[in-house]
Amino acid sequence: MLWIKAFHIVFVVSWFAGLFYLPRIFVNLALAPADSRAERERLLLMAKKLYRFVTPIGVLAIGLGLWLWFGYGFAGGWLHAKTALVIGLVGYHLWCGRLLAEFAGGNSTKTHVWFRFFNEVPVLALVAICILVVVKPF
Ligand code: HEM
Repeated sequence: MLWIKAFHIVFVVSWFAGLFYLPRIFVNLALAPADSRAERERLLLMAKKLYRFVTPIGVLAIGLGLWLWFGYGFAGGWLHAKTALVIGLVGYHLWCGRLLAEFAGGNSTKTHVWFRFFNEVPVLALVAICILVVVKPF
């Protein structure tokens, strides 16, 4: 069980690296002047590669979490609250995919300020999830 939990944490950390960095690239894309074609294409390529790389990592993080849950009989309100937050994170991840498609299509309308607030969402989720799974308050 400890090997599964160890790799669960490894993939969780890697997934969050992507969830933290992708919106940061969006901030820079929103800031990049419309005529700076080379810079926009470089940022877009980085974002596409990162999204493609981090998606299977997220799937593995969740898969190993479900293995822990159903394979080792974990239970409790904390796990339900945690899973609800993780479902929210999956929605956030997919939303990043849609925002990336908007940038690729040249029709993103959101400002860099909007993306700065958007970038903070995974931070709040991470804090809440870690408190739930380590402290297990309910
Ligand atoms: C549906 C997805 C997930 C499920 C079902 C799940 C389930 C679990 C379970 C059952 C454990 C073992 C708890 C224990 O040993 O006390 C665990 C450990 C852990 N999970 Fe998840 N998890 C999921 C996603 C995540 C995510 C997204 C994070 C991000 C922060 C996360 C962070 C952790 C941490 C840090 C531990 C180690 C806790 C400890 O050893 O005390 N998990 N997870």
